[in-house]
Amino acid sequence: MQVDASPSDVTYHDLLPADDLPPGQMRLFTIAGEEVLVCSAVGGFFAVRNRCSHAESPLEGGRLRQNSISCPLHGARFDLPTGRALGGTGYRPLTCFPVKVEGGRVLVGVKG
Ligand code: FES
Repeated sequence: MQVDASPSDVTYHDLLPADDLPPGQMRLFTIAGEEVLVCSAVGGFFAVRNRCSHAESPLEGGRLRQNSISCPLHGARFDLPTGRALGGTGYRPLTCFPVKVEGGRVLVGVKG
């Protein structure tokens, strides 16, 4: 996963039981003032900043498909593991956060 901080730069936040978020669902959290969208996809759990890189629109409510999310506003699609735009849109990548599952719980790392 492409992340914007090295593991030593981040503090992991225990967000929810892994069983509470089945594949194909997402949930929004606010961590240290940052909106973090946790997505349960085919490849596991991923966390991205809840802002599209095109026009800063919220990604919450976008369509999850395999390991990608589509922006609800104009439909740009992004790869969740890397944050990169798919389909040749040329948009900047999404901001991704490191995720780990420990003891059946989903933890997301946020800088600071
Ligand atoms: S704001 Fe997301 S595609 Fe335009």
